[in-house]
Amino acid sequence: MRRNLVVGNWKMHGSRAANAQLLGGLKEAGPWNADVAVCVPFPYIAETALALTGTAMVFGAQDCSSHEQGAYTGEVSSAMLQDIGCRYVIVGHSERRAYHAESDQLVADKAKAALAHGVTPIVCVGETRAEREAGQTEAVVKRQLATVIHTLGHCCGEMVVAYEPVWAIGTGLTATPEQAQSVHAVLRAQLMAATDRASVMRILYGGSVKPDNAAELFRQPDIDGGLIGGAALKAADFAAICRAAAQ
Ligand code: PGA
Repeated sequence: MRRNLVVGNWKMHGSRAANAQLLGGLKEAGPWNADVAVCVPFPYIAETALALTGTAMVFGAQDCSSHEQGAYTGEVSSAMLQDIGCRYVIVGHSERRAYHAESDQLVADKAKAALAHGVTPIVCVGETRAEREAGQTEAVVKRQLATVIHTLGHCCGEMVVAYEPVWAIGTGLTATPEQAQSVHAVLRAQLMAATDRASVMRILYGGSVKPDNAAELFRQPDIDGGLIGGAALKAADFAAICRAAAQ
């Protein structure tokens, strides 16, 4: 059986005071019978690491460089993330694809760099509203995932995949459990053809997951947890989602 994974994506939110309160609230509410991680802005990783010491929660980052090291001003390498104890790094979030013009290949290269340093990439895929309306959902997510599978080769079984329909992110519009499950099943089948680890790989759903819709989403056979944005910023909400994921 796959153990559910719930990942908080804090995006560009937080302050030292707010983070301390949020993490304190989570520590009080946990532990849960699920894997739980928070992906925080780079400047707060070290303090998050300290705050989570002695808990079952782990932490990660929201992006990494595809390069090993060198003259890349402003970038952060996966070796640095490993050095500071990150377990996960989100790559290919739709906000990075949209606002930083990240291509499928760049996302795949970032995932490869992360795995090379033992940091598990959470690779995001998902269609826009226009793509869904044009009936292209399956083709889009398969194209995005295929590039990563091809680039990672036999290591592709080590990644976490997150299906995040772009139209559902931060909009309050959630994919129905059936809509999400049908895309997750497509992704699982694609992974099955690529790696014998497909049946143990986690495929997360993300996009307006809230305490009141989490349980039904997580009940779907190919949904193995969530990537949580807005609701990850409130301890009570994130804790309720972790509770819904507990098995
Ligand atoms: P949301 O964001 O939960 O606020 O929709 C999810 C994400 O972007 O990872």
